[in-house]
Amino acid sequence: MKGIDKKDQEAFAKFLVFDKKVITSDDIKTCFKVQKAMNDLGILSPIDKVITEKGYLDGTVVSDLIKEFKGGDEDFVPGYRIISKLGEGAMGEVYKAVDIEENKEIAIKVLFPHLGKRKSTAKRFLQEAEICKKLNHPNIVKGFDVGYEADQDFYFYIMEYVDGVTLSGYVKKNGILQEDLAIKIIEQMASALEQATRLNLVHRDIKPDNIILTKNKNAKLCDLGLARNWAQDLSLTLTGAVMGTPFYISPEAARGVEELDSRSDIYSLGATLYHLVIGEVPFKGKNSMEVLDLHKSSTKITSPKQQRGDLSHGLSAIIEKMMAKTVGDRYQNPSELLIDIELLKKGEEPFAIQEKKQQDKIPQQLNVQKTDTGIHIKKDDQYRQSSVQEYSIRPSKKIKNANKTPKLFDNFFTSAEQRVLSNAKWKLVGLISLISLVIFLIIILAVFLVMRVFF
Ligand SMILES: Nc1ncnc2c1ncn2[C@@H]1O[C@H](COP(=O)(O)OP(=O)(O)OP(=O)(O)O)[C@@H](O)[C@H]1O
Ligand SMILES: [Mg+2]
Repeated sequence: MKGIDKKDQEAFAKFLVFDKKVITSDDIKTCFKVQKAMNDLGILSPIDKVITEKGYLDGTVVSDLIKEFKGGDEDFVPGYRIISKLGEGAMGEVYKAVDIEENKEIAIKVLFPHLGKRKSTAKRFLQEAEICKKLNHPNIVKGFDVGYEADQDFYFYIMEYVDGVTLSGYVKKNGILQEDLAIKIIEQMASALEQATRLNLVHRDIKPDNIILTKNKNAKLCDLGLARNWAQDLSLTLTGAVMGTPFYISPEAARGVEELDSRSDIYSLGATLYHLVIGEVPFKGKNSMEVLDLHKSSTKITSPKQQRGDLSHGLSAIIEKMMAKTVGDRYQNPSELLIDIELLKKGEEPFAIQEKKQQDKIPQQLNVQKTDTGIHIKKDDQYRQSSVQEYSIRPSKKIKNANKTPKLFDNFFTSAEQRVLSNAKWKLVGLISLISLVIFLIIILAVFLVMRVFF
């Protein structure tokens, strides 16, 4: 983009000093003095150039500010005026822009041109973007549109602009999270995943960089429907050229499993949470392959509670359960995770702790076989069947019920409402049993009286 014209330089200076507050009025006065001195020597230099040459602002920052001052760059993606670049990741560049027709701020992710060469992937991306448009959740960055720019040969994704900072940026600036903020974020993300799961959407790339924290400390999940579609193009297989970062990848994704479900996202969310409260990623290595191997291996994470004493046992156990290596040992869906978070918030013992306590009771020599439904003891075990029963850990009834919530309910009630309904159901069963018992006793009494009168 061209620099600032002479006629606009006063207005641009005011824009920098008063609107953007990126330079002081004294510094800008110095710049004008330097410009005049150079002018007297016959060297013409626009004010933006003087500002960068004097080192007051970085060249790219000034260029973004010029774009913003001029009202943006309209040519790049038709219909949108680019304001500034927000960042860049494995898939492409993200810009803050204005939707010209609607006059509202949005964010555009412009995908790198090599993505989309595989026509089947591009088609799936466009189809899934349609599903994403149906998502309406306060903790999911809303996707507005997707498209293909034929002249310049790139795909783009138009989404809600979130004024905030990514969780990785937040931790870098403010240090590790307090437990209550960590719980709030994880609850919001679990709720976001609950809705995504209903539409059969798997994120595949949950990490602190893909969660933005707003000024009101609400978390928003970014890039839903993006990572999954480009995974193949990004070689997220066994080649080692892992998309983005390998630090939050689930064991099954690291093994190259194609059909992932919400339990993979739950693992990555657990790894994200671990990073937020401990300040370090759960597994470190010399290179991506080493990190991948650690995620794939049976090596468990070091208990968060051991690393940070002030963390509650409940949150620590929840993270460990989210990051269980065997898929069947994790929360089986986001609703189960929400139940445990609710228990933790109420000061009650999450199921993750109860299971941990039971697991600790299992003697090492037992021939234990882990399955997706819990831990079962093999029949030929040396222990008698009765003693085996006490060690047979299965998901509690409450958790099983969460799995079996009728499909019809899903469409009408949120998970919180479903939990209220499910509690109410048990109260109703209790009441009906009591009434039945009273009626039964009355009948017995009546029979007894009749027999006494007539016999
Ligand atoms: N909807 C949005 N609103 C505001 N800022 C955003 C939005 N989406 C992304 N950003 C910003 O753009 C930056 C780059 O995002 P991008 O998704 O390209 O990279 P990433 O998340 O680090 O990597 P990946 O490509 O693996 O997702 C983010 O760090 C964030 O600061
Ligand atoms: Mg991202």
